[in-house]
Amino acid sequence: MPTPIIIDSDPGHDDAIAILLAIASPEVELLGVTTVGGNTSLENTTTNALKILELANRPDIPVAAGAGHPLVRDLEVADHVHGRTGLDGPKLPEPEQRPHHLHAIDFMAATLEEHAAPVTLIPVGPLTNIALLLRRYPNVVEQIERVVLMGGAVGLGNRTPSAEFNIWADPEAAAVVFGSGLDITMVGLDVTHLALLGPERNEELRGGGRAGQVVAELIEFFVGFHRDTYGLEQAPIHDAVAVGEVIWPGLVETEHLAVDIETSSPMTVGRTVVDRWKVTDTVPNAHVALNMDGPAFIDRLVTRIVSLA
Ligand code: BDR
Ligand code: CA
Repeated sequence: MPTPIIIDSDPGHDDAIAILLAIASPEVELLGVTTVGGNTSLENTTTNALKILELANRPDIPVAAGAGHPLVRDLEVADHVHGRTGLDGPKLPEPEQRPHHLHAIDFMAATLEEHAAPVTLIPVGPLTNIALLLRRYPNVVEQIERVVLMGGAVGLGNRTPSAEFNIWADPEAAAVVFGSGLDITMVGLDVTHLALLGPERNEELRGGGRAGQVVAELIEFFVGFHRDTYGLEQAPIHDAVAVGEVIWPGLVETEHLAVDIETSSPMTVGRTVVDRWKVTDTVPNAHVALNMDGPAFIDRLVTRIVSLA
């Protein structure tokens, strides 16, 4: 039986590739995509999610729009990374489908309640929707198998020297999620920066039908920011690693560690403070990804994208 999943996302180049990976993978059943303001506005992330599902010929998968703003802060988008639309690069037709009539948190709650087996949540944007879900529907936790999220870092951040973007964008929401007692796997920058894809695979991708061509164009644009910032000719496909961990459990090597979220210090807000060496007595609350075979994962990812042809 495939693992039932919901992807909560802010597409976003790597979000889009993560969604395509899920669709291409028989090991998982994508019950829906929910959207949140993050890389770009909620309006854009929702439109982008619809575009990607239609690109993959899966307009039947519902897209439910959620929170447009973090719990208590203003939304600060990442257009320096993803462009003005959040998905700059390829030209995709306007979607024919409309978003689901339910708000993302009501959609998630209804889907979790209806589904016979517990569902795995894969949040790959700011954690606003997941925090709201837990607050509004505390009983749904029993229907959540695990949460495999892209966010945070043991080491350096990418939005600030201390903080990774998804956690930095809504640290109060992240604190709710990490304090929830759910089975959490944190796929952070420590591993996603090992999963690098650049234009060297574009010829192969372009042979993979329209989805492959679009991924090649996404990569070309996405590498731009990483070239300017890190001097890399490749880009980490962050969000796809979280989906990959659900498709291939054990893809990332983890340790069960205590993770706290900084919500007040102006200098380090959004930092995931990971007790890597267990120097406190704090009870572990997350399986923190520490290592992975990045190139082997990228091979699997490219193969799956090409299989969408
Ligand atoms: C995360 O932030 C976003 O820019 C990406 O989509 C990813 O989810 C990486 O820090
Ligand atoms: Ca994302």
